[in-house]
Amino acid sequence: MSDKFKVGVLTSGGDAPGMNAAIRAVVRTALVNNMEVLGVMHGYEGLVNGEFRPLGPRDVGGILQRGGTFLLTSRSKRFMEPTGQRDAIRRMNEAGMDALIVIGGEGSMNGAYALAKQGVKVIGLPGSIDNDIWGTNIAIGTDTAMNTIMDAVDKLRDTASSHQRAFLIETMGRNSGYLAVMAGIVCGAEIVLIPENPVDRQEVAAAVEDAYKRGKTHAIIINAEGSDIRTTELATMIDEMDLGFKTRMTILGHIQRGGSPTAYDRVLASRMGVKAVEALVEGTHGVMTGLKSKGIEFIPLADVVNNKRKINMEYYHMVKVLAR
Ligand code: F6P
Repeated sequence: MSDKFKVGVLTSGGDAPGMNAAIRAVVRTALVNNMEVLGVMHGYEGLVNGEFRPLGPRDVGGILQRGGTFLLTSRSKRFMEPTGQRDAIRRMNEAGMDALIVIGGEGSMNGAYALAKQGVKVIGLPGSIDNDIWGTNIAIGTDTAMNTIMDAVDKLRDTASSHQRAFLIETMGRNSGYLAVMAGIVCGAEIVLIPENPVDRQEVAAAVEDAYKRGKTHAIIINAEGSDIRTTELATMIDEMDLGFKTRMTILGHIQRGGSPTAYDRVLASRMGVKAVEALVEGTHGVMTGLKSKGIEFIPLADVVNNKRKINMEYYHMVKVLAR
């Protein structure tokens, strides 16, 4: 067996555009630093099963511009159990894996921290469209999802205006209203409903009627999937209240997770991938790469998992002001 430092890389949880760019950066930077790389298939599930494949520079050719993750991903229940983690560590030891780079969201960072606490050298890279990970201004994939949402809502607004309709659009984000709020700003929504704020049905109705009275040709309402009202219920409510506009609704769903990463996400993923390997070279581990105002910093995984990211409510209030 070679005595080169061997680093594993996996993607876990919901895929996010830019994950491939991050894998590519990890592989190529590791090779430049005389390391070997093992790709772990199917996220933590593959770690438990020992599904490893060596990755060379050509294995990551042509993936920079592709959405999804060529290493595949999963939400592994087995790995959440101590026995699954024990098996994973055994597999890593058998393969001579010295360190592991985990690209994924909040749950994946929890998994990374669980390994770090058991002595595994782990580096996390935040990858999630939800942008709900504490310790980084933005995660890999969020910008692409924002652009996908913007494109979809722009199109929906064209038809909404032509028919003078109110459109209810549901965005992803799990328990975070980040995507909905930012979509509200970039798409000029009348009102945004988020999990962080209880939905006031009267306020929604007033905003729709107000838009109608002020002569708007449409009303755009963005409902985060985690808010406390379902989009179908909202549509029925607005129709029944007869507020001027008839309604239609669109649940954007998984389309928000796919597609070629934006230039921003490719740069972010590349920077974080490079930085993750640099951390290992300098002997740093148990951290996540986080984008901060000064650049990419190493954030302790303990802090990442023990803090809850909050959205900036200033943006939420901005939506209302800009809807005048
Ligand atoms: O975390 C990313 C995300 O797309 C969330 O926005 C959403 O709630 C969830 O994953 C959907 O998960 P699944 O693809 O397993 O249905």
